[in-house]
Amino acid sequence: MKLLMEIIREAESSGVAVGHFNISDISALKGIFEASREFNFPVIIGLSDGERKFIGAKQAAALVKSLREQYDFPIFINADHAKSLEAAKEAAEAGFDAVMFDAGNLPIEENIRKTKEAVEAVKSASEKILVEGEIGYIAGSSSIINSSGLEIKEENLVKPDEAEKFVKETGVDLLAPAVGNVHGIFKDAPMPNLNIERIKEIKSKIAVPLVLHGGSGIEEPDLKSAVSAGMSVVHVNTELRLAWRKAIWESLSANPEEIAPYKILPDVVSAIKKAVENKLKLFNGIK
Ligand code: G3H
Ligand code: ZN
Repeated sequence: MKLLMEIIREAESSGVAVGHFNISDISALKGIFEASREFNFPVIIGLSDGERKFIGAKQAAALVKSLREQYDFPIFINADHAKSLEAAKEAAEAGFDAVMFDAGNLPIEENIRKTKEAVEAVKSASEKILVEGEIGYIAGSSSIINSSGLEIKEENLVKPDEAEKFVKETGVDLLAPAVGNVHGIFKDAPMPNLNIERIKEIKSKIAVPLVLHGGSGIEEPDLKSAVSAGMSVVHVNTELRLAWRKAIWESLSANPEEIAPYKILPDVVSAIKKAVENKLKLFNGIK
């Protein structure tokens, strides 16, 4: 089985991206896994601090590992937006393949200091784990949000020199830069465009692969350009949460007497699978 870094490097050199999809339950995991297997694309399962707290870090790691082993399939698990050193260490000790340490809201020097500390702590739990850092704050949250206060200003985008310094001083394996992306989907305005030129400039300055956060709601041409410009992993959460909620709502409404979860939830699995298929096609240039 290839390592996660080998898979990301292969995507990078082919100009495609690995899909990273967040889960809160096993229905979403099933839908993501089915879509990935159908197209034979490697995939990363992400769990934020809240999502890990709900499923359990060890339990989520064991589930993903069991799929990888039983099906001999490249499915990996990332602790997404770990906000503290404790959370990052807990995920590393639970057997995660990657940790995304999120100190992007801090001033750059403090972000560098804390991220470096996280890289050292995580790597001391296991050398194989990848650590991703965030630079330039990627605002919003994985929900339907108001756009007010979230306008993207040119001066808030990551500067290529800052990205270069961040990577050099922290030792991160992957970098998530703010390039016009936000988490969530605006309810009251079109989503902002990504700054594709800035992605290319950052890419030309650093040697580690780039990760695009906030993959929901971005127009398809923008998403494709971001991948071609050098985003080698793309994170998607809000669109899957929406699909999950709509499907469970419809399934319950259509079968008001049904109480067996395993009869209610297959519609959720199918809805997630469809949403993931669509993104995987985009990320891999077949759409
Ligand atoms: O880390 C998670 C992603 O960046 C998800 O962003 O909810 O906008 O798809 P999204
Ligand atoms: Zn994110």
